[in-house]
Amino acid sequence: MKVGFVGWRGMVGSVLLQRMRECGDFELLEPVFFSTSQASKTQTIEGLDGSFVLKDAVHLEGLAQLPIILSCQGGEYTKTVHRALREIGWDGYWLDASSTLRMQGNAIVVLDPINQDRIAWGLKNGVKDYIGGNCTVSLMLLALHGILKEGLIDWISSMTYQAASGAGAQAMKELLSQMGKLSESAISDEPALDMERRVRSTMLSNDFPQNVTQVPLAGGVIPWIDSDLGNGRSREEWKGEVEANKILGWKTEPLKVEGICVRVGTFRCHGQALIFKLNKAYDLQDVGAMLDSANDWVQLVNNDKESTLAGLSTAKVSGSLNIPVGRLRQFSSDKSIYSAFTLGDQLLWGAAEPLRRALGIVLRYAK
Ligand code: HSE
Repeated sequence: MKVGFVGWRGMVGSVLLQRMRECGDFELLEPVFFSTSQASKTQTIEGLDGSFVLKDAVHLEGLAQLPIILSCQGGEYTKTVHRALREIGWDGYWLDASSTLRMQGNAIVVLDPINQDRIAWGLKNGVKDYIGGNCTVSLMLLALHGILKEGLIDWISSMTYQAASGAGAQAMKELLSQMGKLSESAISDEPALDMERRVRSTMLSNDFPQNVTQVPLAGGVIPWIDSDLGNGRSREEWKGEVEANKILGWKTEPLKVEGICVRVGTFRCHGQALIFKLNKAYDLQDVGAMLDSANDWVQLVNNDKESTLAGLSTAKVSGSLNIPVGRLRQFSSDKSIYSAFTLGDQLLWGAAEPLRRALGIVLRYAK
């Protein structure tokens, strides 16, 4: 079956293609590659045999030939092209990494380890739009899967530590150039306070590179992600609750999710400090065992310093599908409240992997 790929050169698209190659997914489909800027160009694609003539990603009739389209091109592209395709009667499956369609009633937010039944229901009932969720939401749900599936959670507070990759490739590059500028401005062997003064003055200077991050990210944190909803919440924080509930679906009580989303200077690994209240006090070891055994990717990290430094390492988790969960403890003031800290790769389980798996599910259904 033919599958059209749009936005496959971007970060999420590249990670998706890499995972698809690793998993042998291209043996199950015939890829057609689209481009918004290089239509008609002949292109070889790493790991794939032969060459491909790129098709025009804004030519509706060309796109409409495909039974399945997967877009990592971004929200603006989805806004114009998806609607236009539906208006000319295209009835194919649309899979998308961007947030544009997520909250539409006729779209399913895909995270199959959590909502495989919802995806199966959608396919049987003619749902055609399958959208990847927000990265922190997908990572949080996978991390807490063990207690979510038992229906134990009353509320969650998620304080995020979000990587530059969530703001795009340019943000990652800018972070590195900020780091470089700061490092260049220091003089080796000078006292730490002199170094800090020099570095701070570089950070505050007019030519400090911050077109993308707007304020310094290297050497700092940015406690606002995405737009301002005007009610004290950022759009990223709003997504944390609404998307989690959309993924969990129709069969559970609404989950209360609150938190503050913060950009930090990691490159592609998101972290989340979680506080959650369960419906009663459970034995801490039982909670740990539930978390640890929930799915193939989550791993419980012992709550001691040595295990934490080794297991909750952004450098080690980056580029992997692992979702370590550690710092698990019970509040002494209320034994039904627990804390945990989790990490996950923003581009893999945070973006490309749920889509890759959803594509496999759609393909198996459509064949
Ligand atoms: N909105 C996320 C972030 C990335 O800014 O980190 C996309 O899920």
